[in-house]
Amino acid sequence: MVGANGMLGTDIVHQLRHTFGTSSLVAADSHSLNIVSKDSVSKKIQEIRPEWVINTAAYTQVDKAESERASAFSLNVEGPRNLTEACAKLGAKLIHFSTDYVFSGEGNKPWTEEDTPNPPHPNYYAETKLEGEKSVLTNPENLVLRVQWLYGAKKERFSLLKKRDSFTPFSDQWGAPTWTKDVANVVMQLMAKNGKGIFHFSYDDCASWAEVYSFVKEEWKLDVKLIPQKSGEINLPAKRPLFGVLSNRKLKEFLGVAEMGSWKKSLKEFLDLVGRD
Ligand SMILES: NC(=O)c1ccc[n+]([C@@H]2O[C@H](COP(=O)([O-])OP(=O)(O)OC[C@H]3O[C@@H](n4cnc5c(N)ncnc54)[C@H](OP(=O)(O)O)[C@@H]3O)[C@@H](O)[C@H]2O)c1
Repeated sequence: MVGANGMLGTDIVHQLRHTFGTSSLVAADSHSLNIVSKDSVSKKIQEIRPEWVINTAAYTQVDKAESERASAFSLNVEGPRNLTEACAKLGAKLIHFSTDYVFSGEGNKPWTEEDTPNPPHPNYYAETKLEGEKSVLTNPENLVLRVQWLYGAKKERFSLLKKRDSFTPFSDQWGAPTWTKDVANVVMQLMAKNGKGIFHFSYDDCASWAEVYSFVKEEWKLDVKLIPQKSGEINLPAKRPLFGVLSNRKLKEFLGVAEMGSWKKSLKEFLDLVGRD
C-alpha cells in the first residue's frame, strides 16, 4: 500500500487489515517509499514481492499544481510509471486512482469508461493524472479506479462549516461526495474479482456542491448561511469540470450488483460519526 498516510490510503489500510489481518498488507508512507525515486520503488517492491500494489500517493493540490508543475509531474506521472515498471518485473498487479477531472465537464451525461478524456484548461493536475493513468494502463493487468470529491476522516472537509457565519459553495459543479471508506470497499470487491482496466466508482445519485453543503447544514443543524455561487464568479488557478458525474454502470455489471447506493446515505453515516460538536 503506497501513500498509506493520505486520506484514501488511511481508509484502504484500515479496511484491508480489518478484513484480511494486519500482516496482509505493508503500509508505506512517503518516508518509507518515495515513488519519485525509480531505485527505491524497484528495491522496495523486490523486497516485499507483493501480489498487489495499491497506489494512493499523488500530488493532490489542484490549484497549486499550476505553479508547482514539476512536483505535480513527478508525483502523478513519474511515480505511477516507476510503480508500473517495478510491478511488471515481478508480475504484481497495480491499482491506481484517478479523477473525474480528466473529463471536460461539458454536457450532462454521466461519463463512462469509454468516453475520451479531455481535461478542462487550465488544469495541470488533471493533465498529469491523465498521463499517470496511461502509464499504469500500459500493463493490461493493472487497474485504474476513477473517483471524485473524496472525503474521509483523515482530511475532514465539512467541519469548516461549523466555524463559519457564511459559506459560498458552487451551484454549477455536479458530482457526488464520495466516502473513502466506500472506495476502500469497492477496491476489495474489485480485487476479489481480479478487476483490470478502467472503472468508475460513483453512487446512484448526484448533486451540486451547493446541495451537498446544504445537506451537511441540515444534518448538523448549523446556523451557517449558504450563498451558492457560480464557478465563473471566482477566479481559481485551475478550472474544474462543471459536470463531472461518473457512470457506475460498468462497475455494477462487473460486480454483479444492482445498486451502488446514495451519496446521502454514506455522507449521513459519516457526519453522524464525526458528530456536530
Ligand atoms: N481528494 C479527492 O477529492 C480526490 C478526487 C479524485 C481523485 N483523487 C485521487 O485519489 C488518490 C488519493 O487522494 P487523497 O486525497 O487521499 O490524497 P492525499 O490525502 O493528498 O494523500 C496523498 C499521499 O501521497 C503521499 N506522497 C506525497 N509525495 C509522495 C512521494 N514522493 N512518495 C510517496 N508518497 C508520497 C503523501 O504522503 P505524506 O502524507 O507522507 O506526505 C500523502 O499521504 C489520488 O490519486 C488522487 O489523485 C482524489
